[in-house]
Amino acid sequence: MAQPLTIEDLRLLAKRRVPRMFYDYADSGAWTEGTYRANETDFAGIKLRQRVAVDMTNRTLESTMVGQTVAMPVALAPTGLTGMQHADGEILAAKAAAKAGVPFTLSTMSICSIEDVANHTGSPFWFQLYVMKDRDFIARLIQRAKTAGCSALVLTLDLQVLGQRHKDIRNGLSAPPKPTLANLINLAFKPRWCLKMLDTPRRGFGNIVGHVSGVADMSSLSSWTASQFDPALSWDDVKWIKDQWGGKLIIKGILDPEDAELAAQSGADALIVSNHGGRQLDGALSSIAALPAIVDQVGNRIEVLFDGGIRSGQDVIKALALGAHGTFIGRAFLYGLGAMGEKGVTLALDIIRKELDITMALCGLRDVKDVDQRILLGGREEAVRRLSL
Ligand SMILES: Cc1cc2nc3c(=O)[nH]c(=O)nc-3n(C[C@H](O)[C@H](O)[C@H](O)COP(=O)(O)O)c2cc1C
Repeated sequence: MAQPLTIEDLRLLAKRRVPRMFYDYADSGAWTEGTYRANETDFAGIKLRQRVAVDMTNRTLESTMVGQTVAMPVALAPTGLTGMQHADGEILAAKAAAKAGVPFTLSTMSICSIEDVANHTGSPFWFQLYVMKDRDFIARLIQRAKTAGCSALVLTLDLQVLGQRHKDIRNGLSAPPKPTLANLINLAFKPRWCLKMLDTPRRGFGNIVGHVSGVADMSSLSSWTASQFDPALSWDDVKWIKDQWGGKLIIKGILDPEDAELAAQSGADALIVSNHGGRQLDGALSSIAALPAIVDQVGNRIEVLFDGGIRSGQDVIKALALGAHGTFIGRAFLYGLGAMGEKGVTLALDIIRKELDITMALCGLRDVKDVDQRILLGGREEAVRRLSL
């Protein structure tokens, strides 16, 4: 393929280069994948207002997220098994994010550990926490994130119970892949991936193995994980975690104004409007359709961030115009990583930055902090009407 110009180009390249079970793990949603698809397609219904003959010089995309300066309001979302899209994936993505001046969020279920990522990157990153029943382990994990200098904790609330993704079951998803005949045949067609993976020791869940008694090998880990996510999680636990952490706290996985209200009352610094990229409750609203009501409910009391379905700079600007203070990308950077490693994540961020910058200019604005509903055709009201069709 010639130089990739869009996130879709990167996706196609990743599909060729990443073993099927890990490509499918990224490019899938729960059950019918209806919410996963709606996350992307709902953006298309929102139309922008073109403006002309306004000064478009000296543009800036600089903004803030939870008080930290960012080169553009686009952070890398936490994604599990990132080190299986490409060897050392979390370290490479964290480096690309640091060079681009945007936050990287490390998942609890990462391949590279918190300490490993901290040792290989100069800039502080954010850490995402899943709450497991073993509270001692959680307390130690929070302490490890503090020691590593993580500058925000992203607490994910929408995975008390795991949504079903059919492809993961059919593919027998595991890290590393099991040496079945189907896997071996598939791996034979992914030589780049295999060579890099043979060259790294990082092939298991780095934050967990060696830190929890009884979890020494990967085969016991998947059952450990399934039995450890806490289905009894409550807002009292959020308070406990907030106290343990003591720093910037971002609550992830809010899709309903009532939950947004509770998140605001919890004293967290920000919330992320998110349906986990359509991977949890199939049939739920797309993230962009859920955003306006949440901004109405709590937008003046807590920073409202957004993720779900962003595949371009136009998508970013539409989320900002509907009231998001900042955004996260998941698959958009994973496709870049799977396609071309660190260079691919850099390219994904470059693509989104250019699209955001040019779109902002053509809407007649020079500062991303000025983006609001005025850039939407028919304003917010028309966008909300189209989103509810
Ligand atoms: C492959 C994959 C793994 C993910 N793993 C996690 C995770 O470990 N923790 C988490 O909070 N969210 C996880 N998510 C959800 C993302 O943080 C984010 O909400 C979602 O990807 C946003 O949608 P997008 O991929 O359309 O940008 C994952 C998403 C994907 C695609």
